[in-house]
Amino acid sequence: MSSFDVIIIGGGPGGYVCAIRCAQLGLKTALVEGRETLGGTCLNVGCMPSKALLHATHCLHDAEHNFATMGLKGKSPSVDWKQMQAYKDDVVATNTKGIEFLFKKNKITWLKGWGSIPAPGTVKVGEETHEAKHIVIATGSEPSSLPGVSVDEKTVLTSTGALALGKIPKSMVVIGAGVIGLELGSVYARLGCEVTVVEYLDAITPGMDAEVAKSLQRILTKQGLRFILGAAVQGVEVAKGNATTRYKLRKDESEASLTSDVVLVATGRKPYTENLGLKEAGVELLPRGQIKTDAHFATSAPGIYAIGDAIVGPMLAHKAEDEGMALAEILAGRAGHVNYDVIPGVIYTTPEVASVGKTEELLKQEGRAYKVGKFSFMGNGRAKAMFQGEGFVKILADATTDRILGAHIIGPSAGDLIHEICVAMEFGASAEDLALTCHAHPTCSEAVREAALACGDGAIHA
Ligand code: NAI
Repeated sequence: MSSFDVIIIGGGPGGYVCAIRCAQLGLKTALVEGRETLGGTCLNVGCMPSKALLHATHCLHDAEHNFATMGLKGKSPSVDWKQMQAYKDDVVATNTKGIEFLFKKNKITWLKGWGSIPAPGTVKVGEETHEAKHIVIATGSEPSSLPGVSVDEKTVLTSTGALALGKIPKSMVVIGAGVIGLELGSVYARLGCEVTVVEYLDAITPGMDAEVAKSLQRILTKQGLRFILGAAVQGVEVAKGNATTRYKLRKDESEASLTSDVVLVATGRKPYTENLGLKEAGVELLPRGQIKTDAHFATSAPGIYAIGDAIVGPMLAHKAEDEGMALAEILAGRAGHVNYDVIPGVIYTTPEVASVGKTEELLKQEGRAYKVGKFSFMGNGRAKAMFQGEGFVKILADATTDRILGAHIIGPSAGDLIHEICVAMEFGASAEDLALTCHAHPTCSEAVREAALACGDGAIHA
C-alpha cells in the first residue's frame, strides 16, 4: 500500500491537468488510468483524432475547390485512407506520449488499472489498495444510448467507431445534429460519402445562437450534407451489412426510413460513474446521473471530489481542465475558481463556429435590454483571400452599460478569434474597449473589432 496527498481517478483533460497542478503545488500525487495511454476520451478517441481528420479533409476540400483558382494546377490528391488513419493515429500518439512525459517531469505516479473507492480515503486499483487524503473523480462521460438502436461499432457507430472505420462508407446516416454529428459528418461528406443528418429538433446545434445555427446549416448543406429536421429516430435495423434508420416526423407523425452503409449515433453523452463504488463510498448522484458537488467540487462523501463531464455543466475538455486546476488550488489550500459565464464553445467544421456568453434568445428570455454589433467576413479582406468570406461576428452588449454579454462567430478561425472576447469578458470590458483596441491588418480578427464598432457608431467596412 502506498500513500498520497491526492489520488485522481481518470486521465482525461480534467484528471491529468488536475494531477499536474497538484504536483506543481507540492502535493504527492497519483493518477489512476486503465487505458494503455493517458489523455482520456479527448486525446484518444475524441477531440484530437477528429481534429486530425478534419484537418486532412479540409486540405482535400481546398485542393479540390480552391487550388485551381489560386493558380495551383495539376491533379487533385486522391485519398489513401490507410495513410490518413496512420496520420491520425500518429497525432494521437504524439499527444498521449506528451502527457506521459509531463507526468514524469512532475513526478506524478501513474497507477495503471481501473480504480474504485472502497471507502473514503482509499482507492483500489486491481489487487492493490492505496491511501489518499483527497480523492478526485474525473471519470468523464460515455455516449448515451438511444432506444431501439444497438451500437456494434461496425455498422452502427459511436464517435469512437466512426473515427476508426476500415474503409470510407458510401453513405452515412448521422443521428443528432450536435457537435459530434456535424464534425464527423463533415469529415465523411468531404471524403465523398453521402451524409444525411437526422435531428429531433427543428434546428441544428441546440442552444446555439439561432442566426449562427441557420447560417451553419445553409453552409453545410452547400457542402453536401443533407438535413432532416424535426425527426425522432425510432430505431435502427441492421441486415446484410446495411442499416435502416426509421424515424417519425414530429409535425405530422408520418414515418419514413433511410438505408445507409453506416449509422453514427451522436445524441449526446452521459456521465461515466460505473464500477467506482460510489454508493458504498457515500457519493450521491443527481437524477440525471451526474455526481452531486458543491461550489468547491466536494461530493457528499468526505475527502472525495469530482470534476469534468462527471459533474454538472457543459461536457467540454476545457471546462474539465479549468475545474481540475481550480480544484488543485483548493486542495493546496489556495482559492480556486471557475467562471462558468465565460466558457467558450467551438465546433470545428469549416467554417468554424465559436460562441461565449449569452445568446440573443437567452437575453430575450431574461427580458434584458441589449444591442447587437454584427460584421460579415465578406468585409474582411484576409478572409476573402482565403475563400472564407462566409459567416459573421456578432457581439451582444448591454444596451445601457455597453458591457459585452456574449459573442457568436461563424467564420475562419472562429475558435481562435473567440478568445479575445473571452479575455475582454473576464475583465468586464465594454464593446467600446474592444473597438478601441488596435487590431493588426490584414487579419481575420479585424472582423471582431468591426463587430464591436457596430455596437457603437458603426463598422467601417460594412
Ligand atoms: P449534443 O448534445 O451536442 O447533440 C445531440 C443531438 O442529438 C441534439 O441536437 C439532440 O436534439 C439530438 N437527438 C437526441 N435524440 C435524438 C433522436 N432520437 N433522434 C434525432 N435526434 C436526436 O451531443 P453530441 O454531438 O453527441 O456530443 C456529446 C458531447 O460531447 C456534447 O456535450 C459536446 O459538447 C461534446 N463534444 C464537444 C466537441 C467540441 O467542443 N468541439 C466535440 C465533440 C463532442
